[in-house]
Amino acid sequence: MSQNSSAEMGKNRTGIAMSPINAKAVAEGAKESPPSSSGDRHTQDALKAFYLEQSERIGSVPPPANLKGVAKTALKMIQGEKATVLVDKLAERLAFERTGTRLYEAIIGKAEVLAEQSGPRVDELEKIHHQELSHFHMVKGYIENLGGDPTAQTPSADVVGVASSGLLKVITDPRTTMPQSLQALLIAELADNDGWSTLIKLAEGFNQDQMAADFRKALEAEERHLMQVRGWLSARTQEEAGTA
Ligand SMILES: [Fe+2]
Ligand SMILES: [Fe+2]
Repeated sequence: MSQNSSAEMGKNRTGIAMSPINAKAVAEGAKESPPSSSGDRHTQDALKAFYLEQSERIGSVPPPANLKGVAKTALKMIQGEKATVLVDKLAERLAFERTGTRLYEAIIGKAEVLAEQSGPRVDELEKIHHQELSHFHMVKGYIENLGGDPTAQTPSADVVGVASSGLLKVITDPRTTMPQSLQALLIAELADNDGWSTLIKLAEGFNQDQMAADFRKALEAEERHLMQVRGWLSARTQEEAGTA
């Protein structure tokens, strides 16, 4: 398949305008057919409310895995009632940086094959990939310092894993172009920037000064990633439209 354009004109038959005669029949058919079940949105809401109240939460934060050798302050902190929020959010960042690493691995593979002139260049992507991976290792280290288990899937880690799975699907799809892949990457970097900001505030709140300082450096790197991805996507989109 040609990778030249993300929006080539072709035999797209998804729109109703492709068949005006059948479109009219479908609209009439819809009007004539009553809903297959009784009730309205409020009936559904009542049913959903039941599940909202009865459902268990998505997982939990495990207790410290290794109490031996854990610094006193860290131990005290992790045993605090709300410290589980910090552990959960650290695990979320860990999951997201892991996905980020995979996203960049996938897009590097694409950039190598497509070898497009206007970038992003493979070496630029590799640099970001390396930073995502180093962020992953840094967060892993902090979870271990707190006596946590970095392999544990906490609730927030689970949620971002599910939410970002679509991004990975877009980039690993061989049919998607570089700009389409960059679109998925932009969503990841936007969420990543906000994720680090939240984590910095949490680290500051728990008086984890070194952690907050290291995370600020990570955020600076993430801000650069965001600017780069934004720039590539904007340039490539204008290029395709011929408005560059
Ligand atoms: Fe990241
Ligand atoms: Fe990033």
